[in-house]
Amino acid sequence: MGTPGIFEPARLGSLKLRNRLIKAATFEGMTPGGVPSQSLQDFHLDIAMGGIGMTTLSYCTTEADGRIMDTMMWLHDGIESELTKLIKAIQKTGTKVSGQVTHCGHFSQNKNLHRGQPPKGPSKMFVPIGLTAGRPIAPAMTLDDIDHLVRTYRDAASFMKRLGFDAIEIHFGHGYGLSQFISPKTNKRTDEYGGSHENRMRLPLKVLSAMRKEVGEDFPILGKISMTDAVKGGVDYALGLRVAKSLDQAGIDGLIPSAGTSSYNTMYMFRGDSIAHGMIAMQSNPLTKLALKIMGPAMWKKYPYEPTYFLEAAKQVKAEVTCPVIYIGGCSTRADLDRVFEAGFDFVQLGRALIKDPNFVNKAENDPDYDSGCTHCNFCVPLIQHPDGIRCVLNE
Ligand SMILES: Cc1cc2nc3c(=O)[nH]c(=O)nc-3n(C[C@H](O)[C@H](O)[C@H](O)COP(=O)(O)O)c2cc1C
Ligand code: SF4
Repeated sequence: MGTPGIFEPARLGSLKLRNRLIKAATFEGMTPGGVPSQSLQDFHLDIAMGGIGMTTLSYCTTEADGRIMDTMMWLHDGIESELTKLIKAIQKTGTKVSGQVTHCGHFSQNKNLHRGQPPKGPSKMFVPIGLTAGRPIAPAMTLDDIDHLVRTYRDAASFMKRLGFDAIEIHFGHGYGLSQFISPKTNKRTDEYGGSHENRMRLPLKVLSAMRKEVGEDFPILGKISMTDAVKGGVDYALGLRVAKSLDQAGIDGLIPSAGTSSYNTMYMFRGDSIAHGMIAMQSNPLTKLALKIMGPAMWKKYPYEPTYFLEAAKQVKAEVTCPVIYIGGCSTRADLDRVFEAGFDFVQLGRALIKDPNFVNKAENDPDYDSGCTHCNFCVPLIQHPDGIRCVLNE
């Protein structure tokens, strides 16, 4: 029953998935001290047993100082046994495992730094999140820093393949390290890494190429992008299409067109209720609380929720690239899935709907009227900073 293909096995490059539905990267806040916990395994196992084709672990940063907070995981030998156990447990259910690989660049509030250097971005600039760690100005990366960064991505790819990940998702969007180079808002460099679109894409493409060399042509590498940063001076929809085309031409195996940035316009990627109240409530430091109260309304400007809110923009990406396109954004019901697949998308990533209901896939397959019940209240989002990690507050 239902739209043909959604719940049927499908290939993503060389990888066979049991259906066309993928759990989106949602940093769960369940890696205390950077170590994957039993609760992280249980969280993903619930979703795997609910029928998802592939799940995505996030964040997987390429080095310790690539973390926004020190409760995030970085890929290194010290977590090999925990991570391998988690991957194998999920794979036993028939669900594949991807890892979203990222680096914060200058977007960091981490005080537990390992390299003895402050977080850096493409250009020296004021970074509001740095205020919370006493580092409001982030320096510009040197050419040596850039080479080092590429090596960390290369090593991450090799580590992930060795541990048994089925796929890699590189984060090129949302205002993190690589996206800071792509965006004219944050990249003001005048060397070969800044200025033109080609120069701004140089580092992201070097990263893709370095990771590809490590894992080979047969290993799926996906890319998540921001179709627009939704901020003045940043990537707009026209530039977002060029980003998608550049990655497609460079051999990416699938694109996930999201939008917005955590640094400038978070709610653009989520829609629905603002996360401001939850973010303020999560802060223990009175100065940070005050800063968030002042800056919160501008940082977390509300956008009304509409089902499949990126559909029209993502169709433009789909029309311009040859690789598979994995739709993301506002799929909460079976009707939403039908709409997206009828528009010709290859796969769908689901975020909040699976936090609300880990059994989403099995239920949606059997009930054309199925609704996960996610209200897009977005209370789960600030819980990434909660010691127990994220949960749907409606499930209590
Ligand atoms: C709690 C939470 C954590 C998230 N963490 C990440 C992340 O680590 N990386 C990322 O690219 N997006 C992250 N997102 C955004 C989702 O991947 C997705 O783009 C967004 O939720 C829209 O999809 P949805 O409507 O299916 O939820 C997060 C979302 C939520 C709700
Ligand atoms: S807390 Fe629950 S209902 Fe609210 S957005 Fe998150 S998953 Fe949806």
